[in-house]
Amino acid sequence: MITSQSLRRMRRGSRHSAASARAIHDLIVSGPTKKPIIAYGPPGRSAVTGQVATVFGCTGFLGRYLVAKLAKAGTQVIVPYRDEDMKRHLKPMGDLGQIVNMEWDLRNDDQVRECLRHSDIVYNLVSRDYETKNYSFEDVNVTGAAKIASLAQEAKVSRFVHVSHLNASPTSPSKFYATKAKGEEAVRESFPMATIVRPGPIYGYEDRLLRSIATWPSTWKMNNSNTKLRPVHVMDVAQGLTNLIYQPALARTLSLPGPQTFTIEQMFDLVQAITMNPASKAPHLPKFVAKLLARTSDFVWWPVLSPDQVERRYIDDANVEGDWDALGVVPDEIERHAVNYLQSYRAPENMYRPPVIPDSTNRTSPERSYHVMQ
Ligand SMILES: NC(=O)c1ccc[n+]([C@@H]2O[C@H](COP(=O)([O-])OP(=O)(O)OC[C@H]3O[C@@H](n4cnc5c(N)ncnc54)[C@H](OP(=O)(O)O)[C@@H]3O)[C@@H](O)[C@H]2O)c1
Repeated sequence: MITSQSLRRMRRGSRHSAASARAIHDLIVSGPTKKPIIAYGPPGRSAVTGQVATVFGCTGFLGRYLVAKLAKAGTQVIVPYRDEDMKRHLKPMGDLGQIVNMEWDLRNDDQVRECLRHSDIVYNLVSRDYETKNYSFEDVNVTGAAKIASLAQEAKVSRFVHVSHLNASPTSPSKFYATKAKGEEAVRESFPMATIVRPGPIYGYEDRLLRSIATWPSTWKMNNSNTKLRPVHVMDVAQGLTNLIYQPALARTLSLPGPQTFTIEQMFDLVQAITMNPASKAPHLPKFVAKLLARTSDFVWWPVLSPDQVERRYIDDANVEGDWDALGVVPDEIERHAVNYLQSYRAPENMYRPPVIPDSTNRTSPERSYHVMQ
């Protein structure tokens, strides 16, 4: 039988163990609001970081991994969504009450304000590889990004993280990369303490890199397959973004390229060695023909490749140093993960053959080659 005396003793005991489990690093004082944020609870799904994060663009590829990592650490995540079905998979990523869905529209200031009103950190992942009839690159990458940043500043959110692209440049021939650079400037103006993150091309289960090369190799047969890519794992980018919640506002632009550089030709070799499918015999297309086909496909079908993406197929990934140290992440090599994402592209007879081993003699050489284990 539990007496009032034993109950008092139990309460005292639990108070004591909770207090001894905490340390000074569990207490963060949020910047402009001076709100204390205290982490408590056991590690894992039932932990509480005491923080609230809004992830605009959470229904996309990178967004799902960021939400999963934030929720797993015990951060309450506001999930702004446009389409009911696009956010369903995010709900079970956190404990009860940790994932809060809110409908929003980029052009509705009140909805944006409502989504970030209680947040300690706001992430902006909103973007799209192609223009739509409702939204141009300028609308999403510049006007939209500036709006979210200025409303976050107005709501005194302490940290703002804007995801741009490794190749963002105001002079880029690609409208996407040029507006990404313009968006960075607009965000910096609206929210001076913003952290701007520039990942390289990201790979993972839902990517538009490995999967696209395996499914539509002909859309990569441009520039004689000489364009250089610096692919980065989605988990590394998501972990880097998650780690920012443990830091005070970091007013920097961080480049996050992958640790290796591949030409498209080498990416073909890697994909072919893992999928064990014959190489595509599609010819290399001249740029104007590829653009013409892309423009036509834009009209008749879901955009497989937009004309701006054709332009991007000719642009090497920026040759810059990575700023991974600032995020406390060491990015992984693609060979460690590609087999997980590409195995399903194998023919049934090859499904259980041993995995591909990168040629050890070429492991550190940029001209790496691959062979299939027999
Ligand atoms: N994937 C890469 O290889 C890569 C590489 C470097 C940088 N990045 C950057 O990383 C960020 C996330 O990329 P991602 O691959 O996750 O993109 P994604 O899969 O295309 O997802 C884009 C997200 O933005 C939202 N969005 C797009 N247009 C919108 C609009 N007009 N109004 C409201 N929401 C809109 C989408 O919402 P809906 O679901 O409602 O459409 C979705 O949640 C982007 O800024 C991207 O440029 C990506």
